[in-house]
Amino acid sequence: MEKKIILSGIQATGELTLGNYLGSLNNWVKMQEEYDCYYMIADLHTLTIRNNPEDLRKNTLKLIALYVACGLDPEKNTIFIQSHVPAHTRLSWVLNCYTYMGELNRMTQFKDKAAKHADNINSGLFTYPVLMAADILIYNADLVPVGDDQKQHLEITRDIAERFNSLYGETFKIPEPYIGKVGARIMGLQNPTSKMSKSAQDPMDKILLTDTPDDIRKKLKKAVTDSENSVRFDRENKPGVSNLMSIYGILKNKDMKEIEKEFEGKGYGLFKSVVAEAIIERLEVIQKKYNELLENPEKLKAIYEKGDKKANEKANQLLKEVYKKVGLIVEE
Ligand code: TRP
Repeated sequence: MEKKIILSGIQATGELTLGNYLGSLNNWVKMQEEYDCYYMIADLHTLTIRNNPEDLRKNTLKLIALYVACGLDPEKNTIFIQSHVPAHTRLSWVLNCYTYMGELNRMTQFKDKAAKHADNINSGLFTYPVLMAADILIYNADLVPVGDDQKQHLEITRDIAERFNSLYGETFKIPEPYIGKVGARIMGLQNPTSKMSKSAQDPMDKILLTDTPDDIRKKLKKAVTDSENSVRFDRENKPGVSNLMSIYGILKNKDMKEIEKEFEGKGYGLFKSVVAEAIIERLEVIQKKYNELLENPEKLKAIYEKGDKKANEKANQLLKEVYKKVGLIVEE
C-alpha cells in the first residue's frame, strides 16, 4: 500500500522553542517511518511581516539544521525550502481566484495579526491562507500536523479544494488535520494558560532550543507553579505544574500517574530541577548536531537541494493538471 502523504511547515521567524519541539518536531520524527513526509521552511509566509533580509536567510538555514538535528532524517523525509518550489506560488494564484474575500475575512489569525501589525496590513497577510492551501494541496497531502492556531487555515484549505473539485472534477485530495497521539500543547513557563510562543516578549516564558543548561535551570526555577507544593496533574487548577509534568512526561515517556508517584511527598524545588535536567539532556544532543550542521554549509545545502528537487518534481505534476483544467495552455 502507498504511504500516506504528510505536509507541514514552520515559518522562518525567531528561534524555535521547546514548545515547537515537543509539540511538532518531536512528533514529526515519529512519523517518518510510516508516512511519506514533506517538511518545508515557509520562508514566503515569513514575508508577510517585515524582516531583515540577512536574518531571514540565516533563519531559513538554521531551521533546516534544526529539523535535521531534532531527528528528521533527510533520507526519509523531503526537507525543502518553500520559495525553491515555484509551483506553490503558481498554484496559489489560481486558488486566489477560487477563494472569497468573505472567507478570508473570517480568519481569526488575520484579525489578530492585523491588530498586531496595524501599520502593515498587507494583502499577503490577507491571502496567507491561500498560499498555505497551495502548500498542502500541491502534494496531495492526506494529513497535515498543525496546532490549534492553524486549524481554521486547514478548514479553508478543504473548502477551497472541495470547491475546485466540484467545478473541475476530482483534482485535489481533501486533507485532514493530524492530531498527535500525545496532546503536546506546551504552555508558557510564566503564563501557563497560554501556549509557549516563540514570539513571547518575556524570555523567561519560553525555553529556546539553543538555550544553555544554565538558562534552562534558571527558567525552570522561576517557572510559575502554585502554593500547594504537591506534584499533581490538574490542568485547570494547577496549570504551571501540569505543564512541567507534560514536558517531563514526553521527554521521559512517562504518564502522569507515574510522575505523581515519582514525586510523591517531594516539593517543587526537586521536581523542577529534575525536569530541568531532563530538558538539558535532550537539548544537548540536538544542539551538538545543530552546531555541526551550521558549521558545514555544504552539507546543509545538499540536504535542501535534494528535498527541493523531489518537491519540485511532485508539485509540478499537479500544477500542470490544474493549469489545464482552468484553461491555460500547457505544453506537454
Ligand atoms: N502557517 C503555518 C504557521 O505559521 C506555517 C505553514 C505554512 C504551514 N504553510 C503550511 C503549516 C502548510 C502546515 C501546512 O505555523
